[in-house]
Amino acid sequence: MNLKDLFIDYFVSQGHKQIPSAPIVPENDPSVLFNTAGMQPLIPYLMGEVHPYGKRLCDYQKCVRLTDLEEIGDKTHHTFFEMLGNWSLGDYFKKESIGYSFEFLTKVLHIPVERLAITVYEGDEKIPRDDVSAEAWMNLGIPKERIAYLGKDDNFWIPGDSGPCGGDTEIFYWRSEDEIPKVFDSEDNRWVEIWNNVFMEFYQDKDGNVTELKQKNVDTGMGLERVVAVLEGVDDNYLTSIWKNMREKLESISGKTYYGNEEAMRIILDHVRTSVFIAADPAGIKPSNTDQGYILRRLIRRAIRYARVLDMDIHSNFLEELALVVIEEYQNYYHELSQNKNVVLEVLKNEQNKFSRTLEKGLKVFEKVAQNSNFIDGETAFHLYDTFGFPIELTKEEASLRNMKVDEEGFKARFLEHQEKSRTASKGKFKGGLSGNSEIETKYHTATHLLNAALKKVIGSDVHQLGSNITEERLRFDFPCDHKLTDEEKQRVEELVNQWIDEGLPVIKETMSKEDAIKSGAECMFIDKYPDEVTVYSIGDISKELCGGPHVKNTKEIGHFKIKKEESSSAGVRRIKGVIE
Ligand code: SER
Repeated sequence: MNLKDLFIDYFVSQGHKQIPSAPIVPENDPSVLFNTAGMQPLIPYLMGEVHPYGKRLCDYQKCVRLTDLEEIGDKTHHTFFEMLGNWSLGDYFKKESIGYSFEFLTKVLHIPVERLAITVYEGDEKIPRDDVSAEAWMNLGIPKERIAYLGKDDNFWIPGDSGPCGGDTEIFYWRSEDEIPKVFDSEDNRWVEIWNNVFMEFYQDKDGNVTELKQKNVDTGMGLERVVAVLEGVDDNYLTSIWKNMREKLESISGKTYYGNEEAMRIILDHVRTSVFIAADPAGIKPSNTDQGYILRRLIRRAIRYARVLDMDIHSNFLEELALVVIEEYQNYYHELSQNKNVVLEVLKNEQNKFSRTLEKGLKVFEKVAQNSNFIDGETAFHLYDTFGFPIELTKEEASLRNMKVDEEGFKARFLEHQEKSRTASKGKFKGGLSGNSEIETKYHTATHLLNAALKKVIGSDVHQLGSNITEERLRFDFPCDHKLTDEEKQRVEELVNQWIDEGLPVIKETMSKEDAIKSGAECMFIDKYPDEVTVYSIGDISKELCGGPHVKNTKEIGHFKIKKEESSSAGVRRIKGVIE
């Protein structure tokens, strides 16, 4: 029996009603593109509305998360995934919820207790330390040393910046062959988080005010692909039984093995699966230049791009063949896949027809520009978009593969100009489609410069940017550093960035010759890769960098900066993910 069935059977036997998975495109909620968590469709009921199925619910929910779309290609990320969850809507609370999780893991899945460790919420000014959960775990046989108390960043869950929320307890599994340490260290990545039980008893509004909810709820979430990987003893999610048939199909179509071609294959597999689910959704999404349609377009086009990396015939019906396996695999759980099969296949085919003809030509443009420059100007980026169908994100990705920069600001200017000309100007189109939210990305650009400067002060002057990636959700920054940042270092970096934000420093843009830029002390990584005339952005006297922008005019516009994650990226390189709140 597979994990979905085991999970549902167990919770039904404990008095829960199975609710159907909600569509991936949320109904009646234009503020988000996709459901990103199992609890999302349940928000009104967590707030107190009566659910027609009762107070104890369970399900498997289709989710799409796009935060790290460009990161797909590693062992663990997916744009589409399934989340298993059980809920108590004002019924049972901490002790029972922990009891169910423990029983399911140890009795149904037969996971040895020794391989489990737990985090609980350490509390804050308003919410007390969660000793109730810690005690419940200890009573079930989890030793004290395997329970860690962590703060708001780790053990408090809220959907976005406002909504029902609360402290949580997270369950970790020891995935390694190494001897299991007696004392649990949540930073040791041989411990992987498998299940999150959130005790939703509060509501936080957009200004951060916290009030008690009418009822105490439980919201749990378990990422299916991760748990299956754990149970099957592999550290690459794409090597699990979930992907077996799709993977083998891709191997047979491409005539290549998964081993040695992992990155491209993972991207194709992930993107095709997600595209099938989006196209099959009752919302009737079609590839377009806005909102969900734009995401669908990006996914299909990126899959085609990586099929070319595998030397596949991008005009063949490979998308259709892969989609049929996805449909076959999932149709018993998600009937819309078989119901909308023809629609899905048509969507893929039409989009492929559009893009496969122009991809080659677009790539030629890159090769040509790369011969004597390392800069894709706005005009060229727009040409790639308009004539050859390259989403700007793909252009950025292609550029970074060749160590080239893209003038995004120039691209956006051309885009808007074009929109006006063709009289299709609509703010929504630009906001929802192309960049999601150009304002927030602009803020992230400037925050990245501040972060770079703060790291130099706290870690050492030899810190510099090794890689940077910005989405509308977060920034990501790689820099050389030989150690894991301590909590004090992280705090100091955050403080400095926020201090500079609060000081309201002007951000000045200057155009000058490359020589003058270097003389002026502007930081720049690949000097010979820049055109002769460059733009330099300075922030007060804190930072001066060669950069294509765009940036805010004053640091005050940024908001509050927070480090979300600090981790190793490769040997001697650390990676920070940060958000603006
Ligand atoms: N809402 C929590 C999560 O997404 C638990 O379901 O992890």
